[in-house]
Amino acid sequence: MTDITAYLKPGSHLLKELDETPEDWLALIELSAILKQQKKSGTEQQYLRGRNIVLIFEKTSTRTRCAFEVAAADQGAATTYLDPQSSQMGHKESISDTAHVLGRFYDAIEFRGSEQNNVEILARDSGVPVWNGLTADWHPTQMLADSLTMLEHSPGRSFSDITYSFVGDARYNMGRSLLINGAMLGCDVRIVAPKELWPEDEVIEAAKAVAEQTGAKVTVTDDIEAVVGSDFVHADVWVSMGEAKEVWAQRIEALMPYRVDENLMELAGGNAKFMHCLPAFHDLNTTVGQQIFEEYGLDGIEVSDEVFSGPRSVVFDQAENRLHTIKAAMVRSLGRI
Ligand code: CP
Ligand code: NVA
Repeated sequence: MTDITAYLKPGSHLLKELDETPEDWLALIELSAILKQQKKSGTEQQYLRGRNIVLIFEKTSTRTRCAFEVAAADQGAATTYLDPQSSQMGHKESISDTAHVLGRFYDAIEFRGSEQNNVEILARDSGVPVWNGLTADWHPTQMLADSLTMLEHSPGRSFSDITYSFVGDARYNMGRSLLINGAMLGCDVRIVAPKELWPEDEVIEAAKAVAEQTGAKVTVTDDIEAVVGSDFVHADVWVSMGEAKEVWAQRIEALMPYRVDENLMELAGGNAKFMHCLPAFHDLNTTVGQQIFEEYGLDGIEVSDEVFSGPRSVVFDQAENRLHTIKAAMVRSLGRI
């Protein structure tokens, strides 16, 4: 049994990638692989026995919520789920007051919502570890899953040998997080988007500064040819949770040249794999997918069904890894050997 003592950081938060050192970030991915192996081999140790964890979701979720709940159950912890409507937080009680209260009840807090500042306030005022389950700015637990998945699909290689691209709306959580994540892990990371959908300059500068320490190569460009030579092509929805549905028309116009189809995957390279944090619009089997088809004639939005459902797609391996990596974040903060 691997001794995980060196991976524990009692009391640590997971708020955004830039708060981490590259070494700590890599260690979290290593811990994820260890915990995944334990679960798969039926030798899982419970490092979170007796812990109580509250999961606050101001925005909806399938993977993140389920990953936190299953990881907690696997590890012997109990969870309380607060849905977008059923707490006083933000409406009748400030985030800070809520943080003080929840810190008296719980050993840790997960938060998903729009404002990065709110997750930062919870961390500042609760006195317990806080994990960011997605804000408009960052999606750090997703990055751990994406990175573990890329490593697993690159046998015999390390992150410094991996090239990945993100195509789409790069000014939102996924584009920004994938940029910083690649810089931290020493990857060759290319963010490919129309200029108006690039991350802010300060995020690009921060990625370049990290890349100088790690040897990563970071590129932000509007040239779709930048995907050439990618081992992995990442996509995300074109309109994120919390955005007005009126932005669809302009987003579709801006992002059509960046839609992932077989031609784009061929351009990326014969062995390129497709990744997506999910949920994805790749067919007409969703309400939104159907509406977009009726209004704009698009069958599949950010990715064609051929790519999503084809042999290059590793999206369900990626989704499974949300469980193992979120478990690692929880164990790092709260684990008892
Ligand atoms: N990828 C992701 O965060 O999925 P959910 O919105 O379902 O949690
Ligand atoms: N950018 C997407 C990611 C969903 C996991 C959103 O924020 O809705």
